[in-house]
Amino acid sequence: MRQKIVAGNWKMNTTVPQGVELAKEVVALGEKLEACKLAVAPPFTHLYAVAEVLKGSKVGLGAQNCADHKSGAYTGEISVDMLESVACEYCILGHSERRQYYGETDETLCTKINLVLEKGIKPIFCIGENLEEREAGRHFEVVEAQTKAVLYTLTPEQMKNVVVAYEPVWAIGTGKTATAEQAQEIHACVRACIAEKFGAELAEEITILYGGSCKPSNAKEIFAQKDIDGGLIGGAALKAADFIAIGESF
Ligand code: PGA
Repeated sequence: MRQKIVAGNWKMNTTVPQGVELAKEVVALGEKLEACKLAVAPPFTHLYAVAEVLKGSKVGLGAQNCADHKSGAYTGEISVDMLESVACEYCILGHSERRQYYGETDETLCTKINLVLEKGIKPIFCIGENLEEREAGRHFEVVEAQTKAVLYTLTPEQMKNVVVAYEPVWAIGTGKTATAEQAQEIHACVRACIAEKFGAELAEEITILYGGSCKPSNAKEIFAQKDIDGGLIGGAALKAADFIAIGESF
């Protein structure tokens, strides 16, 4: 059975005190949740304090990015050692906002994913087409290319620890959600692409999350799809009750 995960990407939202409060609410409301694993990915400044709140709970901690170097003179960057030292279990990599606004390339992501995996942190590796690519009918081609460019460089042992997140860029923060069918067909395509390189057995074990305006009202239908194993949640993760309601949608 693949692990089901609902992860909250807080992006550049909340101050440290607000983030600590939100984490406390997630822990309290999520205490009885059995259907899936919950995780939160606050901004870097919050990680230490949020880690303290999550201690002893079932909620995992994630970072939203990491540096592509181990250590040294890289002003403003955060290394995987630093993430490990605050007990990060996950690290989001290649989110479309990082690809789009910060020039993150497949090459950089190959370096980052190796650094993260070396530390035993699980990457949540994001892929997804933009509106233009969707309208041109290139969505399968785009997600396959993104998958191959980074994940095909891994060993099977590394691949087992990767979580994939399909996030159609046109659905992120827009209120537009991919239909459950649109999401399912991409998830199936990504799983087949993973199977082509690593074999069907391994591909069956990989958790593939959906992201893009996922909320309590649509999560149930999306999560009912065969190849959808949870969500990477942006806006709706900023309200503990909504976030937990999404987790309860399995
Ligand atoms: P959204 O963001 O849920 O606000 O659309 C999803 C994401 O970018 O992870």
